[in-house]
Amino acid sequence: MACLHSYDESTDDLADEVVAYALERVRMDPPPLDAPKTPAELDELIGTTITAEGLGGHEAFRIFAEQIAPATISVDHPRYLSFVPAAPTESAALFDLIVGASSMYGGSWMEASGAVHAENEALRWVADLAGLPEGAGGVFVSGGTAGNLSALVTARHRAAEDRERPPRWKVLASAGAHSSIDHAARVMDVDVVRVPVDDRGRLTGTELAKVLEVQPDDGCFAVVATAGVTNLGIVDDLEGAGKVAQEAGLWFHVDGAYGGAALCAPAYRHLFAGVERADSFIVDPHKWLFSTFDCCALVYRDPAPARAAHTQHASYLDAITDLDDWNPSDYAVHLSRRARGLPFWFSLAVHGTDAYRHAIETTLSVAHAGADLIRERDTFELVTEPELSVLVFRRLGWTADDYDAWSNRALESGFAFCLPSKHAGETIMRLCVVNPKTTVDDLRAILDSMEGVPG
Ligand SMILES: Cc1ncc(COP(=O)(O)O)c(C=O)c1O
Repeated sequence: MACLHSYDESTDDLADEVVAYALERVRMDPPPLDAPKTPAELDELIGTTITAEGLGGHEAFRIFAEQIAPATISVDHPRYLSFVPAAPTESAALFDLIVGASSMYGGSWMEASGAVHAENEALRWVADLAGLPEGAGGVFVSGGTAGNLSALVTARHRAAEDRERPPRWKVLASAGAHSSIDHAARVMDVDVVRVPVDDRGRLTGTELAKVLEVQPDDGCFAVVATAGVTNLGIVDDLEGAGKVAQEAGLWFHVDGAYGGAALCAPAYRHLFAGVERADSFIVDPHKWLFSTFDCCALVYRDPAPARAAHTQHASYLDAITDLDDWNPSDYAVHLSRRARGLPFWFSLAVHGTDAYRHAIETTLSVAHAGADLIRERDTFELVTEPELSVLVFRRLGWTADDYDAWSNRALESGFAFCLPSKHAGETIMRLCVVNPKTTVDDLRAILDSMEGVPG
């Protein structure tokens, strides 16, 4: 029987294959868009891969390269404009190989002081973008969902320390808040109190104050504002909401999972006024800060309550938790973790923050030029003026089925991945630009195709 852990000639061959593939993939410009297949198609194409004897490295890798990868959409394709795309830099993607190869446990200072030091420098950059004070700190978690949950768990823990347990704990958020807030509330068994939005769809201090005035008990413990509402790309009134939350003694959480990256662009900084009031803030480097999955930066104004809420205690962990070290595990709902902030740190260290600013400004200007194209054509109508890099618009005369049919054809032909969304019950087209390789010509080609001009 072959030995599981051994480095021999066949490992050398596999290393050559894997590294050559990784390099080729990183060099591809553009990468293939690819498309999903059905379970039955994949069963037939791939067959059984987990066997008693093993397939061997070459065969297993062939199956990945020939069957699995083409059935897996490339989120960094410049015409992948659905959901929130991703566009990791070449340096982040390459460095992710190193994180995997280095067997680092990123949970404690004792085990990974170097890695945690580097991650903390990247978190400090994020904290500076948000204007958070010197003592701010946090951890990289798997995504915005985990970041929002961990922040709200901290907020409730702090509230529970100095209050009688209320009949129901409550978090206040607008209908535009990301679905992960509702999910966090379900996990925590707390209620979400909806704050009505203004005519631009923003949570404001005025409406928040009105809702707080009529709350019957003291179960409210946090306000969530969104800096870049996923569907429309707008930023809540952070200044107003933050002020009201602070005056009411409530934790103020800012979800910048998608939009927080635009803090890098000075011309857009005014939209985020008040973000510096946040008790906790998240932004996903795997979205618009050009890192690999899975990476959300979660930063607390004061990390102490987060540590109190999240540190796990067990006798086998005392050697770590009895020390006064900075342990990333202590700041979120997790224990073991990969040092997932390192590809982001490496990319920042390689390129410098000016390059980040430039790349984000590029995506913003492409999105706004796309809005101009939409305005110029009679066939289209903007649903709302873009604030950041999300374009939402109608193709006049189209039904929901027309959007779906066009979108399916575009993906099947490898042309683009653009899914419709809904706003106020109406089916609309939504394009989210976070990839600096997406050009105005790409957007023009998409509009041409939606107009029926053959591409
Ligand atoms: C505003 C916002 N918050 C949270 C999330 C959830 O992030 P993740 O998918 O990384 O869990 C998203 C995802 O798009 C988002 O846009």
